[in-house]
Amino acid sequence: MALLPMNISPNPIELSFERAATRCADLTPLVYQRLFDAHPEAKAMFRSQGSELVKGSMLALTIEAILDFAGERRGHFRLIACELASHDAYGTSRQLFIAFFAVIRDTLRDLLGDEWSVEIAQGWEELLTDIDAVAGATA
Ligand code: HEM
Repeated sequence: MALLPMNISPNPIELSFERAATRCADLTPLVYQRLFDAHPEAKAMFRSQGSELVKGSMLALTIEAILDFAGERRGHFRLIACELASHDAYGTSRQLFIAFFAVIRDTLRDLLGDEWSVEIAQGWEELLTDIDAVAGATA
């Protein structure tokens, strides 16, 4: 019998990113636009020059951490607790740090429209609750 691939069906979080990828090549501008609309104070935390690279990198690493956290938990998810601590230096409060995950969720939800299923919504609800718990535990 052939071995099945580990991820024969993506979990709802993966699915939401996969569906978004068919509609949008790069989430970066959408995510940061939404972040700065909702939390204008966050804008000034980024350096004035070269911040595009930093923002792209921060989002890519955050997405990797989210997929790992929602999936196999091989290690990338540890970035969340680690960066939570180091973001103090950027003036990013714990509350704002956590808000980034909700901003990503809302960006995907808007992109997906009808493809934002009940399962995906529930998956994200649980993920955000679990991340709150991680953030609380490392307080
Ligand atoms: C709204 C919430 C957040 C704000 C305002 C914020 C702000 C920042 C700032 C200002 C920097 C870069 C400073 C610089 O070098 O110029 C940075 C870098 C970074 N952030 Fe965030 N951050 C947020 C949420 C997060 C989250 C949730 C994660 C991951 C779990 C994360 C991961 C990172 C990483 C990995 C870097 C380093 C990027 C690199 O240069 O490779 N951040 N963040």
